[in-house]
Order: sequence, then C-alpha cells, then structure tokens
Amino acid sequence: MKRGCEEGTCGTCTILLDGKAVKSCIMLAAQTENGSIITIEGIGTREKPHIIQQAFVDEGVVQCGYCIPGMILAAKSLLDKNPTPTKEEVKLALDGNLCRCTGYSGQIKAVLNAAANMRGDKQ
Ligand code: FES
Ligand code: FES
Repeated sequence: MKRGCEEGTCGTCTILLDGKAVKSCIMLAAQTENGSIITIEGIGTREKPHIIQQAFVDEGVVQCGYCIPGMILAAKSLLDKNPTPTKEEVKLALDGNLCRCTGYSGQIKAVLNAAANMRGDKQ
C-alpha cells in the first residue's frame, strides 16, 4: 500500500476490504474491524504475479508505478464481481485512481485483457 494525497482523491492507497476497493487513507482502523483486508502485497509476487499485474506489464502501462497498486486492486475488485466487464465498467472502476504518467487507455485495455485471461479466453 502506498501513501499519496492522504485526502481520498488519488487512489494510490487503495486496499480491498471484504473484496471492495476502498481508499485506506480516509478510513479509521475501527471501520475495518472484523473485515478481511488485502493489500497489493497479498495478491502476487515478482516471481508469481497476479494475472492483472501481468496484464499491466504486458500492456506496458507501468511507468513510474506510483498509481499501479491502487489501479490493480480496483481492477481486482471489479473482476472478482464482474468477469466480463465492458470498457465503460472498467473506466468506472478505475475512476478514483489517478495516473499522472500514462493516460488511461492502456490501463483500461490491460484490465480488459486481464479479464479475458482470467476467463481463459483465447486472444
Ligand atoms: S493517499 Fe490518495 S486517496 Fe488515499
Ligand atoms: S504510472 Fe506513474 S502515476 Fe501512473
């Protein structure tokens, strides 16, 4: 998990709380009581990345990398609920995650590719 704006606007601090992407900087510890928390460290490793992480690398959308953990967790929250999202649904899911380097089209494509890979679709 990364620290950024600390006021709920950038999304870099995103975690999954009971599977839902939330901005941890604007949450109190008490709000997470008895909840299941997953951070970016919990979904993949350098040696064995999560399919979404691999899709971001394959699409070449990791530049400075600052926004990427939050983007990936926001994407995971979406794809765990909706394995066949539309482009608009991906845009909405990433809406709270700011990227200053890449623009967003590659990241949206990476999430759509990850969805296809998670479903086992041939591309
Ligand atoms: S650090 Fe920017 S939303 Fe939390
Ligand atoms: S890759 Fe640099 S902020 Fe998104």
